[in-house]
Amino acid sequence: MSDERFFVTGALGCIGAWVVRTLIQEGVPTTIFDLGGSTHRLRLLLDDDELARVRLVTGDITDLTALERAIADAGATHLIHLAALQVPFCKADPPLGARVNVVGTVNMFEAAKRAGIRRLVYASSVAVYGRSEEYGEGPLGDDAAPHPRTHYGVYKQANEGTARIYWLDDGVSSIGLRPYTIYGPGRDQGLTSGPTRAMVAAAVGVPYQIPFSGRQSLQYADDTARLFIQAARAPFEGAAVFNLRGSVVRMEEIVAAIEAAEPAARGTISFGGAPLPFPEEFDDAGLRAALGVPPFTPLEEGVARSIALFKQAIAAGRLDPAGYLGG
Ligand SMILES: NC(=O)c1ccc[n+]([C@@H]2O[C@H](COP(=O)([O-])OP(=O)(O)OC[C@H]3O[C@@H](n4cnc5c(N)ncnc54)[C@H](O)[C@@H]3O)[C@@H](O)[C@H]2O)c1
Repeated sequence: MSDERFFVTGALGCIGAWVVRTLIQEGVPTTIFDLGGSTHRLRLLLDDDELARVRLVTGDITDLTALERAIADAGATHLIHLAALQVPFCKADPPLGARVNVVGTVNMFEAAKRAGIRRLVYASSVAVYGRSEEYGEGPLGDDAAPHPRTHYGVYKQANEGTARIYWLDDGVSSIGLRPYTIYGPGRDQGLTSGPTRAMVAAAVGVPYQIPFSGRQSLQYADDTARLFIQAARAPFEGAAVFNLRGSVVRMEEIVAAIEAAEPAARGTISFGGAPLPFPEEFDDAGLRAALGVPPFTPLEEGVARSIALFKQAIAAGRLDPAGYLGG
């Protein structure tokens, strides 16, 4: 029996709910620290027995005292920091975005240091990068120059700097991961939630238009969650930030994967609008060198699993499609 005890901030969110599901299914004691909004993503992914084993602490990442107390009470050995406000929320309220995403992350590092926990894993984002035209051809390496074009991207860049200074000043090691478009059950908010909303629409049988186009990297939420856990367990020293790869596909391929999983949706899922304002493709050689082979579910399989889970959950009354389809 392992003596691991995981502490996961923002784990009522999409990636966090998948992290918690994997840890609870492994039998690892797990504490969530989150604002305490809806538990709908956890209820989508965990059954009642699994849910009963999750320790949920309601707290605000901007409150260092509360965070320190929660980490101590949890007897945490491993820290995964996911709590953040996504692109649209930071745009709507930049001061709040900065408090949660910037100060909240500083608090997390400070709390780790004070608790004597020498390592943590946190979510950065591809939003630290600029538009594809600002870079050369081919997949982008971890050290490509950041040129964020949103408040959110600037805050994530600040997080990476914070991580570097906590390593230099205090010897707190960290791994930052930069996801792109996360998809799968639980992905019901944020700039790039369109492909997942389309999967719900296909499961329900209603038309849906994904509001962007182009080629991009898609990462299955379960894979990304497992990668955060893998990173938290890695015997790593320093302050590294890694790009993720996943499935690099055109929007046509995403729609085709949805239609293959749900043939009745053929012709009902479309897309339009500009491509996402980020480079299309990333090189994950750094990640592989440090952590080994990342979990990877091919797009067709991830889409099929997502639609199957959505259909089951809707039939069982555990998912209200309006949460994804906005009405
Ligand atoms: N989803 C993506 O495609 C994507 C891409 C790149 C990076 N990321 C990053 O990964 C992390 C997790 O993403 P997600 O999709 O699971 O996000 P999400 O929006 O689904 O969940 C974020 C969680 O943070 C919590 N939170 C917000 N403010 C808080 C506060 N003040 N104190 C405590 N908790 C707070 C929310 O209640 C929510 O449960 C975030 O840091 C996000 O920026 C996500």
